[in-house]
Amino acid sequence: MRDKRKVRKAVFPVAGLGTRFLPATKAVPKEMLTVVDKPVIQYVVDEALEAGIEHLIFVTGRSKAVIEDYFDIQVELEQTLRDRNKQAELTLLDTILPTAGTTSFTRQQSPLGLGHAVWCARELVGDEPFAVLLPDMIMKGEKGCLKGMVELYAQSGGNVIAVEECAPDQAHKYGIVGVGDRIGDGFRITKMVEKPAKGTAPSNFFINGRYILQPEIFPILATQERGAGNEIQLTDGMLKLSEWQQFAAYHFRGTTYDCGAKDGFILANVAFALEREDIRALVEAPLKDLVGGL
Ligand code: UTP
Repeated sequence: MRDKRKVRKAVFPVAGLGTRFLPATKAVPKEMLTVVDKPVIQYVVDEALEAGIEHLIFVTGRSKAVIEDYFDIQVELEQTLRDRNKQAELTLLDTILPTAGTTSFTRQQSPLGLGHAVWCARELVGDEPFAVLLPDMIMKGEKGCLKGMVELYAQSGGNVIAVEECAPDQAHKYGIVGVGDRIGDGFRITKMVEKPAKGTAPSNFFINGRYILQPEIFPILATQERGAGNEIQLTDGMLKLSEWQQFAAYHFRGTTYDCGAKDGFILANVAFALEREDIRALVEAPLKDLVGGL
């Protein structure tokens, strides 16, 4: 069936300005800020690879060239490591290097919004379903969020959006979905509302930054008017597509760290540091002292 074709490609929109992380983002893309010892984007790429994604498409902008360099060989560094017989470091660099020909980069010349960034990937995606992963959201769960979505998609076909629950009084801050019949680890979506007025949200399930979309979204995004924040919004495009295509929600049960925000970024660092035995031994007691001293 056309709407159940394998999801082979993933789009990472990395062209935003990252104003919440100024002044750091004046020179360093927020996706390259490190959580423990890996850039945020590496966690998100790993999630995509775990889900069986074969081709990574980055929509970049000005001053994001360092992301492209990160996914390439660094000849001088590697030669120096070889000269110094640093085998463990060489192996580490090798494991994160994508296979040649499986990454593509395109530019969004002006940051006109997430919907516009996704549209910029249309030629590279072509006529097939694809995933979108917001590259500043790190999802921590037993199973990768996109992997769970791909499993649901095998049942539901169509479009799949990952959702999580928020406190009902916080629903006005998010894109919220209406809950229909159960399917797999999720449910059919009955409606989508971007930032509903207080007390009007159809549920407390919010869209958390992972999508599987059919290519029919592209012509919609091509003519999409600017919406909230004067940006071309992906949610507005999905709303139109949902008039004739099915949308299902995958209920992600884990923790999401919004690393584009300072609190999420700091918490991600603490959570991933505590999970690493070598680092936990170093930071656990001082962290307890810090918190206990508050
Ligand atoms: P955000 O609104 O979270 O990112 O967009 P931002 O605009 O970079 O951050 P702030 O609010 O100024 O701090 C969600 C995702 O969409 C991408 C961003 O890079 C981010 O990963 N995006 C957003 C684009 O690629 N292009 C855009 O025009 C807007």
